[in-house]
Amino acid sequence: MNLNSLKTEIDKELGTLKTDSDCATFHQKYLSKSGVITNLMGTIKDLDPAQRGKFGAEINVLKRDTESRLFTLQAQIKDRELNEKLMQDKLVDITIPDLTREVGSLHPITRIAREVEQVFASMGFHIESGREIVTEYENFESVNVPANHPARDMQDTFWLSNGNVLKTHTSALQNILLKKYGPTFGAIFPGRCYRNENLDASHEMAFFQVEGMMVGENITISNLIYFLKTALTTVFKKDIEVRLRPGFFPFTEPSFEFDISCVFCSSRDGCSVCKKSGWIEFCGCGMIHPRVLEMGGVDPNKYQGFAFGFGLTRLVMMKYGIGDIRVFNSGNVEALKAI
Ligand code: DAH
Repeated sequence: MNLNSLKTEIDKELGTLKTDSDCATFHQKYLSKSGVITNLMGTIKDLDPAQRGKFGAEINVLKRDTESRLFTLQAQIKDRELNEKLMQDKLVDITIPDLTREVGSLHPITRIAREVEQVFASMGFHIESGREIVTEYENFESVNVPANHPARDMQDTFWLSNGNVLKTHTSALQNILLKKYGPTFGAIFPGRCYRNENLDASHEMAFFQVEGMMVGENITISNLIYFLKTALTTVFKKDIEVRLRPGFFPFTEPSFEFDISCVFCSSRDGCSVCKKSGWIEFCGCGMIHPRVLEMGGVDPNKYQGFAFGFGLTRLVMMKYGIGDIRVFNSGNVEALKAI
């Protein structure tokens, strides 16, 4: 018997199969117990013995070939049908977030802290971050504020029952960094500080400062002026003038108050923020006190350094013209988004 016409028929039908149920029908017609191929196999025994072998081999090949082509096709069709179903399901998938959902954003304090870090890092400073709970030694003693020093009263401190404190200023990291890096380095470190303040528009119990320091063999106050001026010009995106006035801090000698040209009335006419002076007090700074260097293990006869500490929260308020410090910890996303 000639199988060629059956092969042609099978070829043609395989080409028309579109769905899984088409495949099932095809299987039923040719390969099931009562299918055409199975029936033909049943006729082998009735054939002339001379023909049996050849026909048997041919029909077996046809059976295997047809099965394997059908299974491959069926797998492809199933895959496609599943994908189509998934695409349709997606349109009604109630777990997909609605398109107006917003992604989070960085808090303005984080944003500016990163800007400050980046500009100082580009000038060779290490970016550091410290703990919020520090020892009394780190917060006070190591920066030349011994017990009973009047400067301790200026910073209403949260004391913990084990004698540690919530750091009242980022200067609490100075000693740690002197010990970590030795006599030549620059570091910039923003951090959250705590003071027991009454809450009002310009006082918060938790606020941020940025401390910077550089130690080496030929460090002078003019280095500090250069670095701070560059950083502020970057943050405010305009030229900032600076001036130094004598000041007092236990951790620096000499100490200065660092003023910047008023960012609110660049015309220099004076405004209510700068009290018509054209200048805003920006931060404290100075040359690191020899005692502070010594306690950090650095020889003050050979090395010197500068340090400064400013209110990061206040810088953000200045940059964005925010009048009330309470917005930062308010958790009021709408208000923070508007900044
Ligand atoms: N720690 C001071 C404060 O919290 C700020 C400060 C002033 C830091 C002078 C310094 C500095 O490093 O030299 O008010």
